[in-house]
Amino acid sequence: MGAVIFVHSDRTWCERIKKEAQDFPSVKTLFFTSLPDAYEAIGNFALPIAAIYLSVKRQKSSIFAALEFCIAHRPATPLFLIDQSDEPFLARFRVKGAFLGDSSFEDLIRPLNHKFLEETGINEIRPMGARQHPDYISIPTLDFSHSLHYSDDVFIHQPEGGMKLFASRGSPVEAGYLQQALKFSNWLNIRESHCKDAREQAKAARTSFLDLRGISEEWIRSELLVEAKTLFTEIRSTLPSDSVVLKATGFLDSFFRYLSSLNRSHDQGRLEEFIREAEKTDRSLQALSLALLLCGYFRFEKSVVVEILGMACILQDISLIHSPFGNLADLPQSRVPPEAQNFHMRHPVHSADLLANSTSLSATTLQVIRQHHETRDRKGFPNRIGGSQLHPMAEALSMINQYLDLRESGLPTQDLWDKLQREVYPRYSTEMVRALESTLKKFSGYL
Ligand SMILES: [Fe+2]
Repeated sequence: MGAVIFVHSDRTWCERIKKEAQDFPSVKTLFFTSLPDAYEAIGNFALPIAAIYLSVKRQKSSIFAALEFCIAHRPATPLFLIDQSDEPFLARFRVKGAFLGDSSFEDLIRPLNHKFLEETGINEIRPMGARQHPDYISIPTLDFSHSLHYSDDVFIHQPEGGMKLFASRGSPVEAGYLQQALKFSNWLNIRESHCKDAREQAKAARTSFLDLRGISEEWIRSELLVEAKTLFTEIRSTLPSDSVVLKATGFLDSFFRYLSSLNRSHDQGRLEEFIREAEKTDRSLQALSLALLLCGYFRFEKSVVVEILGMACILQDISLIHSPFGNLADLPQSRVPPEAQNFHMRHPVHSADLLANSTSLSATTLQVIRQHHETRDRKGFPNRIGGSQLHPMAEALSMINQYLDLRESGLPTQDLWDKLQREVYPRYSTEMVRALESTLKKFSGYL
């Protein structure tokens, strides 16, 4: 029989399902806790796969990319999602159904073809061979074993060459008929062009997932955090360019939309949980989350927030990442080597210069980056710019940076609060302080 594959990041969930599966000895199961591990099995044609179940919860790579992968490699295998409700949009990516996380093993396998399991005792037959025709995808015959219906026209390769229709799309999968096919071939074939649309739709959905009605919050979070991780890895590994800026704009737009919707829902618990999860993914997301929420207080235009403040949050320390002294971005100032101290003090200007030379970021975004450690009282660095010369978004970012530095110093809550009042707030305008306080008060654990 083909194996039934489960991909779920939660080991407790896997253990529960494994235990429940013991009551169904005829179903062969395989469990993976990450998509990349599962890709090896899904891409291995020596392993017939009868059904795939993917959880959308806390996956470390894109679920849309996983759907594309499954469509490309296992187009005949029924695919189901877990931790997602069954929604019409899923059919576009050939998803056969979706389940909530507490579903039992019996619930999960109910849509599968059990007749095949009961009526036949096909021995393990490892398919051999490769693609039989350039326009067709060859699929292990046993991949069809749990399907109720053929999802496409299926063809069998003739010994004398050429393809012959084996079963029409929508016709029922019958165990005996499939067993006959196995006598001739371990492979069946479907037209490659039929999978192309579903793959394209999965790709397109990845770029506009927030517009999908019915996509679960778990899935949105996974996609956002995967996008953030990919973006920050690129920012750290390559010098800035307009292509990185474009990716950052797309990510910021999604991040802003999702954070605003959480904020509007007045469910502070969910908002706090997401921000903490985001911070674990990348430190830069701390400043970004706070900055975007603080902008809600001022009711700035969304496009201005994304293009100026959001971009500045992400790229403010780019010169420290790519400094001539190596990556200084994650070092506290006390651990910056003496020869790099001057560079570190001037990093806001270096960041703006580097971005001005390599991207077409707007002059205002560059100004905010140049001023991201300046303060209203003109005691910031590197140029002691203050008063009305200090851009309001630079002032917001500078205050957030000081707050996060204090938070990272590990001070007990009361000391942090005192220090914030005594040393940080006097350096900024009353309005800005009020905005930060109002934002911080939303979170139980921040102060
Ligand atoms: Fe900085």
